[in-house]
Amino acid sequence: MGMAIAIDGPAGAGKSTIAKLVAKKKQWIYVDTGAMYRAFALYYLRKGVDPDNEAQIAAQADGADIRISYKDGAQVVTLNGEDVTGLLRTEEVGNAASKVSRVGEVRRKLVELQRKLAEDADVVMDGRDIGTAVLPNAQVKIYLTADAHVRALRRYRELAEKKLEADKATAGEKKETDKAATGEIDEAALAKIEADIIERDRQDMTRAISPLTQAKDAVYLDSSALTIDEGVEKILSVCGEKTA
Ligand code: DC
Repeated sequence: MGMAIAIDGPAGAGKSTIAKLVAKKKQWIYVDTGAMYRAFALYYLRKGVDPDNEAQIAAQADGADIRISYKDGAQVVTLNGEDVTGLLRTEEVGNAASKVSRVGEVRRKLVELQRKLAEDADVVMDGRDIGTAVLPNAQVKIYLTADAHVRALRRYRELAEKKLEADKATAGEKKETDKAATGEIDEAALAKIEADIIERDRQDMTRAISPLTQAKDAVYLDSSALTIDEGVEKILSVCGEKTA
């Protein structure tokens, strides 16, 4: 096994943004394991399998061939030969991923793939069970979290920004009343995002197999009041201490 930094934590804590930057600094490979569960979810959604139907999820798991490669340093996910990287970051796929990830057949396949990646290279790997189950011998383990309201607000801003970009692309059609465009917060939309985040936490933390939990030897890091750069610095300093 190469060197490994395992970063676990709930949805929206900033794991992938921070992990990517840490990997860049260390010139290690960044492995986004959530994207693998999302690819699995996409496979089932396309097949019309209900993400809550655990028996069907288990029965059809063998039909999904998920592979990871790297293009210009960025992770590319292929599902049965198709590059699906750009289709994974929607709320629908994320929520379905949280559900299908409860099933042992799905987890076994992906954990095997994740361990293989960590055997071949030095990695920064993020997810829910990296420090506890996938790479229990990782040199550095971080449990990265943030207040649910802060996570919802970050997600809201991310979505508003995406929407703004989409609106710009279709200039002229933009409505004056669009809250995303004026920077005003749509409280109802924000409350919905926060409720979804809390439900996802509950799902990921209470499932039977490899639930999200802080590994005993993980460093707890609350990013609520940290900037992205501060989060990166903090992790790099933990690395310095642990590998000194
Ligand atoms: O990090 P993310 O939002 O892309 O992850 C989507 C879902 O995948 C998450 O809600 C639970 C599941 N997941 C998991 O069970 N184990 C991991 N190591 C990573 C993600």
